[in-house]
Amino acid sequence: MRAAVYTKYGPPDVVSIQQVPRPVPGARDVLVRQAASSVTSADARLRAFNLPKPFGIPGRLALGIFGPRKKVLGVEFAGTVEAVGSAVTKFRPGDRVFGIDVFDCHAEYKLVRENECIALMPEKLSFEDAAGVPFGGVTALDFLNRAKIKPGQKVLINGASGCVGAYAVQLARHFGAEVTGVCSASNAGLVRSLGASRVVDYATTDFAREPVAYDLVMDTVGNAPFARCAPVLAPTGALLAVLGAPEDLFRRPKDGRRLIGGTSAERPEDLHLLADLLAAGTIRAVIDRVYPLDQIRDAYAYVDSGRKRGAVVLTIHNLIAAQPKTG
Ligand SMILES: NC(=O)c1ccc[n+]([C@@H]2O[C@H](COP(=O)([O-])OP(=O)(O)OC[C@H]3O[C@@H](n4cnc5c(N)ncnc54)[C@H](OP(=O)(O)O)[C@@H]3O)[C@@H](O)[C@H]2O)c1
Repeated sequence: MRAAVYTKYGPPDVVSIQQVPRPVPGARDVLVRQAASSVTSADARLRAFNLPKPFGIPGRLALGIFGPRKKVLGVEFAGTVEAVGSAVTKFRPGDRVFGIDVFDCHAEYKLVRENECIALMPEKLSFEDAAGVPFGGVTALDFLNRAKIKPGQKVLINGASGCVGAYAVQLARHFGAEVTGVCSASNAGLVRSLGASRVVDYATTDFAREPVAYDLVMDTVGNAPFARCAPVLAPTGALLAVLGAPEDLFRRPKDGRRLIGGTSAERPEDLHLLADLLAAGTIRAVIDRVYPLDQIRDAYAYVDSGRKRGAVVLTIHNLIAAQPKTG
């Protein structure tokens, strides 16, 4: 099968389309014939080995010292079930599925354990839309859940037009919060349409100097460490450091406020909730650009700009027969 392979860390041209063996499902595996995947900020980081400084050495040990151990990136998948292992009970061939599973999604076929973060796709969702939701959606949901978000809270999302931010705005709104989004002026309309009642343009206004107290501040940009956010965090507020500042790595606030960081968990139940919210039209996929797998280098170059809105999707197999009927 065809896959986007990289054998050394570096710019987009370290990635090339090559033939690799098609995976064979074990007893508990689901083999997905992929219609679409995506290039996420995480793929771009791993490809370039662009990790925050404190993670340099552990990152090399985990990912490969001289070059990547796992040679196919990609964390989101959407497609149809091609085959299942003998012990699989939740899925069967032909099912339309989507999900998140780190590595090996930039390929024609993807193996996923049936108990991992994989779910049936909502009936009317296209594969392109489905491939752009799990990474941002599951991350945003995990952080908001860990913060125990409540109706009526004031929530600020820094980086509201990015992939995590776009779903964080929608989910925080769904949970009944009053949402402020921070983005550039050109993305203000998008962020409002996702549910933000206020938008702050970071080019003209420093949100951390405004006379407002937020219950939750989510930072997806990495420029809002605890010290900067403290003046606008309510006495029991929390900073959700999706992209934590290095200076906060070992910080444990002692004044009643919380700092929630680390890596988000990928829970099937969170993906099921996202599927339900998509089916109900409560949230929507936010897709910026769509590239064929063959043009993955162009997709990476765009993601590297740091300016994408929501997700950048890759199309892989053309599964027209399995797409929802429109009109
Ligand atoms: N902790 C975890 O488990 C976890 C999980 C997922 C992701 N992450 C990390 O979270 C970060 C965000 O991921 P992502 O996929 O959402 O990134 P992304 O989609 O690449 O973010 C791009 C967005 O960032 C906005 N942006 C750039 N500079 C900004 C600024 N100074 N202020 C406000 N917004 C700004 C851009 O908006 P404008 O064009 O309007 O500037 C653009 O829409 C990544 O670093 C990723 O590695 C962590």
